[in-house]
Amino acid sequence: MNKESFFPKSIKAALQNNPPGEWIPSVPANAIRLHSGYPAPLLVPSKELKEAVAQLLDEESDLPLHYIGSPRIDKLKEWVRMRQEVRAMPSNDEEILITAGACQAIDLIARIFLDKDAVVVVESPTYMEALEIFQNYTDQIITVPIDQDGLQTEKLAEMLANRKEKGLTKPSFLYTIPTFHNPTGTTMTEERRRHVLELAEEYDFLVLEDDAYGELGFINNPKTIKSLDTEDRVLYVGSLSKVVAPGMRIGWVHATDKFIQALFWFKKDLEHPFAQATMATLLENTDFIGRLEALSKTYQGKCQVMLAALEKYLPEVASWFVPEGGYFVWVKIPGVDTEELLAKATEEGVSFLPGKYFFLDQTEGTEYLRLSFSYESEENILKGIQKLGNVVHSSIK
Ligand SMILES: Cc1ncc(COP(=O)(O)O)c(C=O)c1O
Repeated sequence: MNKESFFPKSIKAALQNNPPGEWIPSVPANAIRLHSGYPAPLLVPSKELKEAVAQLLDEESDLPLHYIGSPRIDKLKEWVRMRQEVRAMPSNDEEILITAGACQAIDLIARIFLDKDAVVVVESPTYMEALEIFQNYTDQIITVPIDQDGLQTEKLAEMLANRKEKGLTKPSFLYTIPTFHNPTGTTMTEERRRHVLELAEEYDFLVLEDDAYGELGFINNPKTIKSLDTEDRVLYVGSLSKVVAPGMRIGWVHATDKFIQALFWFKKDLEHPFAQATMATLLENTDFIGRLEALSKTYQGKCQVMLAALEKYLPEVASWFVPEGGYFVWVKIPGVDTEELLAKATEEGVSFLPGKYFFLDQTEGTEYLRLSFSYESEENILKGIQKLGNVVHSSIK
């Protein structure tokens, strides 16, 4: 039996791409983990989640364990709508869909809007899991570079004008992480956000705004593109992974009701009702603003330690963007292949992510690496960058 023959053409093509999670490095257990985009362990509310589960089952007995039993599932949606409204993105009930994290939201959007001939535009570099998702649906992915001020919208405009002139297919959507970007840590200026919307209107495409880090500013959080959108062109994706706990898999899409209906069609009842009800219970008992303030203060402190350590241990040989929030510092080390560097670094007891995984054309990323300051303690961050400095200096000699 030829097992391959059971796959349709589009799936066979997708299976030629790199496997999911190919980028996850194997790291010794005692290494300092500067590769993972995990929240700080002390800021994951494990005790509160345990209490929320107990409260939920005490109050609702078996209800939350059925398909859609718990009334708290609606409460979670109300909570999301309340947060969206606070952030100048009011919605009605038909405009929000709760998903299993931002990733399911991105996958559903790709499923609805992309077929194998569709064109999608992404930032370069971009979040590698989103790249993996889009590559499952289309091989027409166009990249537009990023600088310290986020997506270079002038280059986006040039590309769009060029394609139009040549009569090429217009993009279905632009995928952007405008705020505290993964992997670069950069934030798009308001002027560029408005430019994105103008271009979306002029060239008639949608904007998929991934706001996974949007409430993690050290000083403040910029206006979302969605909040500036008067045309309903933005499909906004939010997540509680980076501000509560990724394992709960709670994300959402906020978009016009027609789009939400279509996403709902394909999501069907692939629900995770127990996690949703537990999250709703946790949020009932959480001072969320206080939580955000604590996160922001902690991550700002860790980021400062990392930046100071980079100044101390990697001056002259490396350069980096200074983030104003989020989890990451994006570092360039000219002349160094960061994939090779990783092997030496893990031997020394420190990890990072090689930059190549964040690029469609991986050869563009060989001199870059992504450091996360979210997970490790300040003390370990300092030690980790010192180790990295030693490895880099010995590689350059
Ligand atoms: C830009 C971006 N979007 C989405 C996600 C994943 O979000 P979720 O855990 O809600 O699927 C991440 C996690 O690393 C991310 O960096």
